[in-house]
Amino acid sequence: MYLTKEEERIYDGEHGWANQICMKILVRLGELFHATRLIPIESAHVSGVSYKTLGDAPGKFLETLANADGKVRVKATLNPQSFDPEYLGRKLPEHIREKQLNILRQFEKMGFTQSLTCTPYYLEKPKTGSHLAWAESSAVVYTNSILGAWTNREGGPSALAAAIIGKTPNYGMHKAENRQPNILVNVKTSLKNEAEFGALGIYLGKILKDKIPIIWGLKNASEDELKQLGAALATTGMVNMFYHNIQLERRTMEKISVEANDLKRTVESLSTAAKSKPDLVFIGCPHCSLTEIRRIAKLVDGKKVDAGTEFWICTSRYVKERSGNSVERIEKSGGYVLTGMCTIVSWTETLGIKTIITNSAKTAYYAPTLNKAETVFAPLKQCLKTALEE
Ligand code: F3S
Repeated sequence: MYLTKEEERIYDGEHGWANQICMKILVRLGELFHATRLIPIESAHVSGVSYKTLGDAPGKFLETLANADGKVRVKATLNPQSFDPEYLGRKLPEHIREKQLNILRQFEKMGFTQSLTCTPYYLEKPKTGSHLAWAESSAVVYTNSILGAWTNREGGPSALAAAIIGKTPNYGMHKAENRQPNILVNVKTSLKNEAEFGALGIYLGKILKDKIPIIWGLKNASEDELKQLGAALATTGMVNMFYHNIQLERRTMEKISVEANDLKRTVESLSTAAKSKPDLVFIGCPHCSLTEIRRIAKLVDGKKVDAGTEFWICTSRYVKERSGNSVERIEKSGGYVLTGMCTIVSWTETLGIKTIITNSAKTAYYAPTLNKAETVFAPLKQCLKTALEE
């Protein structure tokens, strides 16, 4: 891999240990994927922020990097942490809170924006055609497919290294020839809500693996529905992008179709709970947009959440602060708009949550393993009906 004189100096340690180790991570990765050089990035987004999934050893590495003067060179954002400080944080033991806060302190010391969201594109949209190093798979699919920026699906360490060096190796999704569609998916049933978009993603992810599909039949899909589709595609597959609004068809292109029954079976498979009354009604995976928060507020207006049911809506602090009176209306109903956290990597077991109802296919897929919880997978309106008193 070609390195400029300056990059070589960083590689040789002339700019300190933190820069050297990050450069070594990027060069190793580049060599593995036959990159020819490093290219500048507009931004980096790092996952692996939750103490629950990170544990102690990576936390120590972050501390060493921050103490060795590791500093980000580009705009760098963070995925969600393991609790919302104002609500869940208060219910958790002191040692968990302290460990999590220490991780955030190290990132802050290195210059990361405390965005704590898996939808960093709501804070600032990356420019079309810009190169990024993002590590949250749902955000990777969204930004490649909907926003037209270019990023590989980074791991936490490579996104961190890219943030500090300000560059990434030019392979994979950074090259136009690797962004060409190679399979045509004909969806032969109309999707009725965001949950069905998620189910389609779960179904297709298993079949497509790392292919790039053109998906036909998604008439008038909203960005929020496409967000659910992308998050789910990346849950069961290695899909990094999809096309949905082009008519291109090559004779040599592989073709598959999705029937109503495929979708029905997938929706059913995402519910594991025998009892219908969940402890937690959860919306916000990926984190809610302003439009979603406003829609929820409208639907819960004047109603009350059932006693004994937790009702969480997760988003970024940025979106919450711009939601006006929607947050008040949701909170008046007994729901909580929680910021900066991801339910999947939060301490739901510690809080006694055994059954979760959600409109997110990604959460429904992971919760039985990661949260040891039963799931009910349903569209937003049905989730809210469960949360609210009749
Ligand atoms: Fe975001 Fe967590 Fe879902 S990071 S995409 S809320 S699993």
